[in-house]
Amino acid sequence: MTEPVSQPPSAESIDEIKRSAVAALNSLQTLDAVDQWRIAYLGRRGTLTHVLRGLSSLDVEERRVIGALANEAKSVLEERLEDRIRQINDAALIRSASRDRLDVTLPGRPVSAGRLHPTTQIVREICNAFVAMGFGVVEGPEVEWDHYNFEMLNIPKGHPARDMWNTLWVDYDDPEGESTMLLRTHTSPMQARVMEGRQPPIRVVVPGKCYRYEATDATHEWHFYQVEGLAVGENITFSDLKGTLFEFARKMFGEDRQIRFRCDYFPFVEPGVDMSIDCFACSGDGENCRICRDSGWIEIMGAGMIHPKVLEGVGYDAEQYTGFAFGMGPERISMLKYGIDDIRHFYTNDLRFLRQF
Ligand code: FA5
Repeated sequence: MTEPVSQPPSAESIDEIKRSAVAALNSLQTLDAVDQWRIAYLGRRGTLTHVLRGLSSLDVEERRVIGALANEAKSVLEERLEDRIRQINDAALIRSASRDRLDVTLPGRPVSAGRLHPTTQIVREICNAFVAMGFGVVEGPEVEWDHYNFEMLNIPKGHPARDMWNTLWVDYDDPEGESTMLLRTHTSPMQARVMEGRQPPIRVVVPGKCYRYEATDATHEWHFYQVEGLAVGENITFSDLKGTLFEFARKMFGEDRQIRFRCDYFPFVEPGVDMSIDCFACSGDGENCRICRDSGWIEIMGAGMIHPKVLEGVGYDAEQYTGFAFGMGPERISMLKYGIDDIRHFYTNDLRFLRQF
């Protein structure tokens, strides 16, 4: 770099300083070196500053001309300094970008796509089977009143049938000190809720979660889904119920599956039945089978003709209207369809199980 000059500054010396400074600057590759350059030329003791100080030794006219040249040279060097800093930064950026450069020819990393839970899949499949037969889909609350879960279903307080549903009560007392709020034990409370809200003809299915204070085993969970069905109108008979459920079973399981109706008791239907399908694990033999507990059959739903007291409870004329209702367990249906041997798989979140669906 040029040493400070001791002679009075001239146009030539300023030009020479400018050229040599620019040449030196262009050869620098690091920000540290550039900073050294700045100190050497533009710093307090730098070459150009020294020139500017030497202006005082010139006469007035020379000072005006040479001063203007020196100031112009200073502006040029400051501008070049900025440019060089930018170039060095840009070059560093390009170097690091090319180091981490994307290779677009590499195969992509697989994105693991989510999917619907098997319970959601089977609930939708069941609902779609009924939608194809003209049913609509509605949903209702999981935290329910005793009034809808029991009373409106012809199960008053103290009725022994309440023991059929081991109930999880919500810690809430009404002003009389009675426990009136619970986690619904079945989707049947929606029968009364739907009938209260509209007039026949009614055809709906109600999917939703239910809760029971029950020990778990291969076919029982303490929380599980149900799909309720309800059809009310004039001249609806038991053969409509059977025809609808046979059609459903054919859609879900194919023609080969054996189906069994047996009398069963639910206070809100009369007559009441349970519908079972032959056990997939033992093909209905029922020998040493923990799935069907040696019976050869797996119960998938309760059903029946709606009890006149339930119809009257919601203000319908039980002479004019009749109807049927059913309630099934989708997890049990999924077990039958896919040969799943334990209902608890649905809720343990084991990806090895879930990925199969
Ligand atoms: C009922 O809950 C009645 N509400 C069904 C009904 C509706 C009858 C309308 C008549 C008219 P049940 O307790 O049997 O009935 O349950 C119905 C279905 O839910 C059973 O067939 C079974 O598939 C399923 N289910 C019941 N308990 C469990 C459980 N602990 N774990 C898994 N699924 C269950």
